[in-house]
Amino acid sequence: MNTLDQLVYCSRARLNQEQADEQIADIVHVSTFRNARVGITGALTLRGGAFVQLLEGTPTELDILMLHLHFDERHEDIVVLAREQITRRAFPIWGMTASRPDQRAARDLDRLIAERSPRLESWRQAMSAAFTA
Ligand SMILES: Cc1cc2nc3c(=O)[nH]c(=O)nc-3n(C[C@H](O)[C@H](O)[C@H](O)COP(=O)(O)O)c2cc1C
Repeated sequence: MNTLDQLVYCSRARLNQEQADEQIADIVHVSTFRNARVGITGALTLRGGAFVQLLEGTPTELDILMLHLHFDERHEDIVVLAREQITRRAFPIWGMTASRPDQRAARDLDRLIAERSPRLESWRQAMSAAFTA
């Protein structure tokens, strides 16, 4: 039986100031297509120069994606903060914050980024709040 893992990582964005919007649109575009093909879902945010991405999928597909991510020069200093097996997806649909997270969710995310919390549950909550705001 295929198991499901959920992980969250932080990285430092290395986007070109003038092309940042374009680069993010490209990441979302490629991710939407590739993630759908391999059954990965999750959420990506960019706050204060830090990417935070929560990913869900089979352990093998997540490992393959993490390998791609390590070679992607649009960010650096990737730190996997938490990873664990889950029974149900928290983000059944791939998404990227198009709408702005509400004040409280944004504060929670900023705090977690500063703390680099190893608690997956706290990231899950903050990301969910940001995406449903
Ligand atoms: C912050 C960030 C998040 C990304 N998230 C994903 C993702 O969820 N899925 C994905 O397929 N590619 C994602 N990418 C793009 C991959 O790093 C990579 O470019 C893509 O998988 C295509 O790989 P390839 O160019 O080796 O074919 C992300 C890139 C960045 C910088």
